[in-house]
Amino acid sequence: MSTVGKPITCQAAVAYEAAKPLVVEEIVVDPPKAHEVRIKIINTAVCHTDAYTLSGVDPEGLFPCVLGHEGSGIVESVGDNVTTVKPGDHVVALYTAECGKCKFCLSGKTNLCGSVRATQGKGVMPDGTPRFHNKKGEPLYHFMGCSTFSEYTVVADVSVVAIDPTAPLDSVCLLGCGVTTGYGAAIKTANVQKGDTVAVFGAGTVGLSVVQGAKSRGASKIIVVDINNDKKEWSAEFGATDFVNPSELPEGQDIVSKLVEMTDGGLDFTFDCTGNVNVMRDALEACHKGWGQSIIIGVAAAGKEISTRPFQLVTGRVWKGSAFGGIKGRSEMGGLIKDYQNGSLKVDEFITNRRPFVEINDAFEELHHGNCLRTVLSFK
Ligand SMILES: NC(=O)c1ccc[n+]([C@@H]2O[C@H](COP(=O)([O-])OP(=O)(O)OC[C@H]3O[C@@H](n4cnc5c(N)ncnc54)[C@H](O)[C@@H]3O)[C@@H](O)[C@H]2O)c1
Ligand SMILES: [Zn+2]
Ligand SMILES: [Zn+2]
Repeated sequence: MSTVGKPITCQAAVAYEAAKPLVVEEIVVDPPKAHEVRIKIINTAVCHTDAYTLSGVDPEGLFPCVLGHEGSGIVESVGDNVTTVKPGDHVVALYTAECGKCKFCLSGKTNLCGSVRATQGKGVMPDGTPRFHNKKGEPLYHFMGCSTFSEYTVVADVSVVAIDPTAPLDSVCLLGCGVTTGYGAAIKTANVQKGDTVAVFGAGTVGLSVVQGAKSRGASKIIVVDINNDKKEWSAEFGATDFVNPSELPEGQDIVSKLVEMTDGGLDFTFDCTGNVNVMRDALEACHKGWGQSIIIGVAAAGKEISTRPFQLVTGRVWKGSAFGGIKGRSEMGGLIKDYQNGSLKVDEFITNRRPFVEINDAFEELHHGNCLRTVLSFK
C-alpha cells in the first residue's frame, strides 16, 4: 500500500523537555509539500550538538522537538517541484542547506546558505508549519532542518543530497555532521598545507576528523590536546604525532607555553573542537606570531563570549570559524563519499557503538564516555 500523499505513523524520539530523556513513541509525519522531501531514515547517529540542545543551554532550542542531524536514508516521496531527488534515492540529510541561488551560495566565499535559515532556526518548514505531530495532535518542532530521530522525516529539498547507492548508509550517516565538519575545517577552512604544524583541542569525532584532514595534507606535526587520556591512543590512530593533557602539565607551565615550546614559536593552525571559550583563547594564543590561524568549530553555551588581547591579532594571528567544515553539502558530498569508498577518508573507525533506535537514550549517555566516539542507531 502506497504511503505517498498520506500521513505516516512511525517511531520517533521526542524531546519534550530540556535535560529529560527522549520519549520513544509513535508520531505522525505529514506528506511533503512543494519543495519538500519525505525520507525514510535508515541510520542516525548522535552528535554532541544534539546533546547540547537537549541540555537546555542552546538559545535556539525549542521543545517539544524531534532532534537529530546526522542521518541517512531513502527518499519515500517528494512534494511538487522537487527535481533534485526522487523516491528510492539514497540520501544524507544536510543541516547546512545549499540552494545554489542565494547571495551566500553565489558568493563563492562560504558554504552558508540563506534559503531556509530563518524557518530552520524556528523549528518549522519554509511555509512556517511543522510536518510532525504526536498522537495527541500536538505539533512537534523540527531541528536543524533534519530531525533524523524519526523513522520518517520531512526536509526542504535544499537540505538533502542524493548519494551513491552502493555507499553503506550506516557509515555515511556520519558524513551528515561530525566527520565532514572536522575534515572540511582542516582541508577547506584552514586549507592546511604540507609541512604545516597543527594543534587540535578536543579529540571527539570532530577533532579526530581535523586530525585526519591535517594528516592527508601532510602536516609535519599534529598535536592533540585533550583532558581525557583515553583519547591518546585514538589520536595516534587517526594520525596525531603528539598528545598533551593540559591538566597534567608541570606546575608553572600552561598549555600555550607548552605548545609554543613544542613548535618553536607556535602553530600554523589550531582548532577548537571543545566549545569551551577558555580553550578557544588558548588555541588562538598558541598560534605562531605573524600568520597562525585558529579555527573555532566548537559550539559554546548561550551567553558565552570569547576574549583575548587585541595585540594577538595586531601581531598577525587570525581567528576564524567554520560550520560544517566549510563544505557545500549538495555539491561536495559526492566527493567525500568517494574519498570514503577509496579508503582515503576514515568513517567506520568512528563507529564505536551500534544500537537499535529504541536505545537512543543510551546513545546520549555513551556520548559522555571517553571510550565512545559515535553510536550509530538503526531503525531496522
Ligand atoms: N561548527 C560545526 O559545524 C559543528 C558541527 C558539529 C559539532 N560541533 C561542535 O564541535 C564540538 C565537538 O563535537 P564532538 O561531537 O567531537 O564532541 P565530543 O564530546 O565527542 O568531543 C569533545 C572532546 O573535547 C574534550 N574536551 C572537553 N573539554 C576540554 C578542554 N577543556 N580541553 C581539552 N579538551 C577538552 C573531551 O574530552 C572530548 O574528547 C562540540 O562543541 C560540538 O557542538 C560543531
Ligand atoms: Zn553535529
Ligand atoms: Zn543558498
